[in-house]
Amino acid sequence: MKILSIETSCDETAISIIEAKGGFKNPQFKIVANTLISQINIHKKYGGVFPALAKREHTKNLLPILKTTLKKAVLTSNSKFQISKEKQKKVFKILEREPELAEKLIKFLEENKNIKVDAVAVTQGPGLEPALWTGLNFAKVLALVWNKPFILVNHMEGHLVASLLKSSEESGKVETVKFPALGLLLSGGHTELVLMSDWMKYKTVGQTRDDAVGEAYDKVARMLGLPYPGGPEVANLSEVFSTNYSLPTTNYPLPRPMINSDDLDFSFSGLKTAVLYTVKNIPKLTSKIKQEICFEFEEAVIEVLLKKTLKAIKKYKTKTLIIGGGVSANKRIRKIFKDLESNEFNVLIPEIEHSTDNAVMIGIAGYFRFLGGKALDPNKTSRIKANGNLRL
Ligand code: KG4
Ligand code: ZN
Repeated sequence: MKILSIETSCDETAISIIEAKGGFKNPQFKIVANTLISQINIHKKYGGVFPALAKREHTKNLLPILKTTLKKAVLTSNSKFQISKEKQKKVFKILEREPELAEKLIKFLEENKNIKVDAVAVTQGPGLEPALWTGLNFAKVLALVWNKPFILVNHMEGHLVASLLKSSEESGKVETVKFPALGLLLSGGHTELVLMSDWMKYKTVGQTRDDAVGEAYDKVARMLGLPYPGGPEVANLSEVFSTNYSLPTTNYPLPRPMINSDDLDFSFSGLKTAVLYTVKNIPKLTSKIKQEICFEFEEAVIEVLLKKTLKAIKKYKTKTLIIGGGVSANKRIRKIFKDLESNEFNVLIPEIEHSTDNAVMIGIAGYFRFLGGKALDPNKTSRIKANGNLRL
């Protein structure tokens, strides 16, 4: 089946169409078309994502990228049809705060009859609520006009299944999830260990008590005067340090918070504060010192993540480890976790481009929700709300 999916939880406006098949037993996915507009350059000057701006940009971008995605997928038809007055009224109600968008969207949809997608999936949360609403409302309209099943997806669930894209026929390699599986989610807003006893059966067994890993990366970057988003910047400097200098060495030791605690929780705010004090005590921050701090920060993060993940694998006897979320784009983190793979368990990591936010992962999660009977009637979406704090 073809699923059109929409992601607008933060600063990427993304729409994709995937072809999904195989059911729960042998799920396989292929990207038919995938479009993403990043707002990074717009938010850069604020040093972080500015919600009202994110909303404005999503509203502006959604229709153009819908057109691009449908064209790429060769799904536009150039044959007209009329959306009934009653449905048009509903569209204007859903998009009551964006009447101009409603008008343009109706016009575009009326020019393209029989768009062959089988379902519409969208991120409901967690994320920035004003941003989430834009995608949610847009998706409601598409499902209503096309009269297709409407699927709500949890953004973190998307990150959890993003690595399954590799199970496409083209890659020739089928990635399988063996249950119980453990998910390690590392994003800008979340750091969680999630036990999966089956598809869509999640239990959070560990989480950060304060900052998420990505957030810590971004804040450390800011302390070092590096641009937003800081994760890739810190990772680059750390890599420069590790290739240029003999290791291990550190003149700036940092703590490994909660590394020996009995639970599976994390804490990264103390680590961030330790970086702050370290930086404050350095009279002149040279680029070599910055590199060394980035390296040591990354070292601290990885040690803690690794120890807690191994502990969870052992405790729950998990057979697959799934990594996901923006921070899983980090090369060093990818390598360390991939190297854990053994005869006893496999490790799934998304392609770098699907580690950070995208709509493909929302489509994949949408497929599982569809299979699980969670698709909704497109005519009954008026009460559905975006939820910035949605939990797995
Ligand atoms: O999953 P994501 O794209 O958005 C959220 O759902 O939050 O994650 C974004 C986070 C940001 O904090 C960003 O700095 C971090 O992922 N990130 C990285 C890397 N690439 C992105 N952190 C470390 N190393 C990277 N290469
Ligand atoms: Zn994300």
